[in-house]
Amino acid sequence: MNMVKGRSDLPQAPLADEGVVDFVRTGPGTLAGRYLRQFWQPVVEARKVESGRSIPLLIMSQKLAVYRSQEGKVHCVDNRCAHRGVMLSTGWVEGDSIRCPYHGWAYGPNGQCVDQPLEAEGYKKNIKIGGYPTEEYLGMVFVFLGEGEPPEFPRYPEWERAKMVSPQIDTRPCNWFQNLENFVDEGHVWFTHQGSALKNLQLDAVPKITNEVTSWGFRNVAITPDGRRRQVLFGMPNVGMFAVHPDNIRKQGEAESEHHAPWQMFLDWRVPVDDNIHLQVHCIAVYMDGEPTEAMRARWRDFAAAEAEAHEVAQRVMTGELHYDQIAAMCHHVPLAQDEVVQVGQGVIADRRKGIEHLGASDVGIVAVRRIYTQELTAFAEGRPLTNWIRPEGLLPVSGSGGEEGWE
Ligand code: FES
Ligand SMILES: [Fe+2]
Repeated sequence: MNMVKGRSDLPQAPLADEGVVDFVRTGPGTLAGRYLRQFWQPVVEARKVESGRSIPLLIMSQKLAVYRSQEGKVHCVDNRCAHRGVMLSTGWVEGDSIRCPYHGWAYGPNGQCVDQPLEAEGYKKNIKIGGYPTEEYLGMVFVFLGEGEPPEFPRYPEWERAKMVSPQIDTRPCNWFQNLENFVDEGHVWFTHQGSALKNLQLDAVPKITNEVTSWGFRNVAITPDGRRRQVLFGMPNVGMFAVHPDNIRKQGEAESEHHAPWQMFLDWRVPVDDNIHLQVHCIAVYMDGEPTEAMRARWRDFAAAEAEAHEVAQRVMTGELHYDQIAAMCHHVPLAQDEVVQVGQGVIADRRKGIEHLGASDVGIVAVRRIYTQELTAFAEGRPLTNWIRPEGLLPVSGSGGEEGWE
């Protein structure tokens, strides 16, 4: 007998035990996909959508055309012409509309067909494709892919006040939830990120990891035996925050005073492309200016090349051609390749069945994120009220300075 009404009808996650709600699949019509679509999602760096141009995107298995009018406004519609299915992203941007290159049908930002040069005047009013609310914020394009009115656009005032904000979006070839779990996996920092510029490891001082509920989701706190603390904030449904302090960016062998980076805050998202690939979104705020910030800006300009390099090195480690320890010397963005090896190495979709995976006491973050998703998706499937997740301004991971990644 089912203790919870309707639970037996809930979609089960692939490669998980019975009763585990499906947080893996996010295509249109799926439970997790419908849930994620209730929130604004970052989908691309704004600079990649040039004035008068359109780009194709795949987000949660949905084909989109994102385009920018000559006046600078960004829009998003389905990337499929209602006439005979051609990609609208290959067409022309005209004012706020986009015109199909096959027979010239044009669509406005809400997906309404506004012109059909080869057809009778009355036909176009019956033709409509999906058109989605779109906002540009912190150097990224955000889209609301849900039904009805979008929720209030979430703002991050601490990022608006930064001296510099840099969005960096890379793709990772595995299911999105593996990276969500990685974000709240404090323990991995000690091992996965050995040798990265981010972390001077002290493996003899591994932390005790605890987890606290917040109004936004939860917070992980790692405390070492010598009393240092590191916090990571997780915000529903797929947002996170952590801080990086100057000392931990210094290169090995450099004196502590030679900081190569100003103090930074990371605002992160994990956004499914489809069920096998996802976007890792970092929006990095820097709070100092001057030379270190300029050095950082130059480094970020090469992010696309660093991402390609990280993919290649991660692949070569997984095939056995390189050893894990060689990553640090071969990548400009070491953590990117390290995280890719451990996330993609689990398989495109991780096997979470009991007896195949064996969680331990340090996995409090992973347990917490699965629990929160199971609760919310179950309520969603049963039509019960959903939690109104709120991040009050000032809820930040750490406020101290110095030390290593996120240490206070
Ligand atoms: S397929 Fe787009 S106008 Fe014909
Ligand atoms: Fe990591």
